[in-house]
Parts: sequence; structure tokens; C-alpha cells
Amino acid sequence: MRRKLVAGNWKMNGSAESIRTLLQGIKDGAAPVAAVELAVFPPFVYLSLVEQQLSGTAISWGTQTLSEHASGAYTGEVAGPMLNDFHCAYVIVGHSERRTLYGETDDVVARKFAAARKVCVKPILCVGETLEERDQGITESVVERQLKAVLDLEGIEAFNDAVIAYEPVWAIGTGRTASPQQAQDVHAFIRAKLTERSSEVAAKTRILYGGSMKPANAKELMAMADIDGGLIGGASLEAKEFLAIAQAGC
Ligand code: 13P
Repeated sequence: MRRKLVAGNWKMNGSAESIRTLLQGIKDGAAPVAAVELAVFPPFVYLSLVEQQLSGTAISWGTQTLSEHASGAYTGEVAGPMLNDFHCAYVIVGHSERRTLYGETDDVVARKFAAARKVCVKPILCVGETLEERDQGITESVVERQLKAVLDLEGIEAFNDAVIAYEPVWAIGTGRTASPQQAQDVHAFIRAKLTERSSEVAAKTRILYGGSMKPANAKELMAMADIDGGLIGGASLEAKEFLAIAQAGC
């Protein structure tokens, strides 16, 4: 049985003050949704604050990206070993905003995935097609290509300690959610691709849905056989909404 994971990707939002309030709200409301694992992904500069606030709780934290390099002359970047200093459990890799706005290729994403594993931080690998790609009917080949880059570099066993997030780009921040069946179809496809390499690993790997997940649609989405939680953007910035999504997964 895969335990559901509801993860809040805060993107480039928040302030020290708003984050204190948000975390207090999440902590206060976490007990009734303990069946679901919760995790938050602040901007780097608030990691220390988040660690202070969440240490000793059951809520995990991590970052929104990391460098593929371990150290060196890479101005502005943050390396995997640094995440260990803040006891990050997870790191998001290959988010579509990183791929499209910052030019991260499948190869770079695979190397970031490897860098995370090297320091024992669990990667959450994001995959997903653009609207144009969906309209062209190539959703599966896009997702397969994104997944294959990581599988070829790191192998199927790497997914024993990794999570996948299917985030259709056209559903991110648009208020336009994939229907539960549309999402389930892609999730099942991803699991089938993992199964080709190991049915044991495929059965264990959590596949999250991301893209305008809200309290109103979370229950239906998470009721699908291969949807094991959510990667939440906008709705993770309010404790009440984030917890209501978690509740829907209980
Ligand atoms: P929204 O929930 O705001 O659509 O964002 C989804 C996302 O990109 C999470 O990583």
C-alpha cells in the first residue's frame, strides 16, 4: 500500500512572516490528516526557518531544485550536500518551470536526479506535456522520453527512493485541471513503463498529480488507482486549503 504524499511547492512566494503563519497553520491542523505524508518546498533562503519550525514534527521539507554539481564555481546555484545541512528529505527535479524558463534538458534533469540520490535526498521527478504536445497526441511519448532519461542514467532501482509527479503543463496555475481519468491514464502509463523494468519497484513508486489541484477536485483525483497524492502550487500557500487537500487523500 502506497502512503499518499501531499507536497506543497511554494515556488517563489512567501516572506519570513507569511511562512511562519503558514507553517503554524499546517502544524496545528496536521494531526487529523496524519494518514497522509505532508511535505513543503520553500525558496532556498527560508530553508533554515522551515527546518526550525518543522523539526520534530511529521512534516517533511525540501527544495524546488538543486545543482547537478557537488560544489565549485557555479554562481547562484545550490548543491546537494548543502541540502543535507538543512536535513531536506526531498528535492523537486525537472519541474516544468525549470525546464521551460531555465532551459533544463532531460539530460540535466537526469543529472540533478543523480545528484540528489548521491546525498540521499529523495528526488521528486516532474514530467508532463505542454498543451501543444497533448493536442498533437504525443503526451505518452513526451512523458516516456522524460522518464527514460532518468531510468537510463540511474536505473530502475533508483525509484525505490524517488517519487514521480505528473504535471501537465497546461494545468499548472491555469485553474484547468486534468480530469481524473485523463490524469489516471498518464499515471497508469508511467507505472507501466516502470513495470517493464521492475514490477516490484513500479508497485511501490508513488506518482503524484500536479496542476491546479484544489480541495474541490482533490478527492476525485486521489481516488484514482495510480494517483498517490499531489504536488500543489497555489493551493499550498494557504494552510486551510493545503490541509483540505490532504484530508481528501485520507
Ligand atoms: P498549481 O497547483 O498552482 O497549478 O501548480 C502546480 C505545480 O506546478 C506544482 O509543482
